[in-house]
Amino acid sequence: MQIYNALAKDHEKLKELLNELVSLDEKDNESRHDLVQEIRDELVPHSRAEESILYNSMRALEEGQSEAMHGYTEHMEAEALLRTLQVAEKIDMGWKQTATKLKDALEHHIEEEESEIFATARELFTNEEAEMMGDAFERIKPQIRDESFVKTSMEMVLNLMPPRLVNKLRGKSDTKAA
Ligand SMILES: [Fe+2]
Ligand SMILES: [Fe+2]
Repeated sequence: MQIYNALAKDHEKLKELLNELVSLDEKDNESRHDLVQEIRDELVPHSRAEESILYNSMRALEEGQSEAMHGYTEHMEAEALLRTLQVAEKIDMGWKQTATKLKDALEHHIEEEESEIFATARELFTNEEAEMMGDAFERIKPQIRDESFVKTSMEMVLNLMPPRLVNKLRGKSDTKAA
């Protein structure tokens, strides 16, 4: 599966969960708590894997840098909102307002990703590379979900990446380490 389809599949799931959350009955505390947890478990591994596989590959190529950095910024914003939501949900104060903000922010991000970011990536990568990135994405996401994913898995990510990009990424990290 190409990276674009793998990511879009997750996006659909996330949008469904967010719609479910904002339509919940205000008093349905248990479903709300479970849903917020589920959204976290979908969003965070998705974003980390997307950054490792797609954004970092784009960033390694000049033409992809600004799109990738914009994506990173929106991930940080969404995760800040998610943390606010986790607190608001726990103390049962204003959670619906924050849930709506998160839903709007993610819908905007997903829309931009699927139009602008994907379009730039399609120009930068061959179909074969997009397939390899899709496989890499599916393989590392569950490991990130288990939270055993820290720096050591960088090597694994590099091993899963298309060779043309690996050299660029390696070159970059070598320069930084020196
Ligand atoms: Fe995404
Ligand atoms: Fe994203």
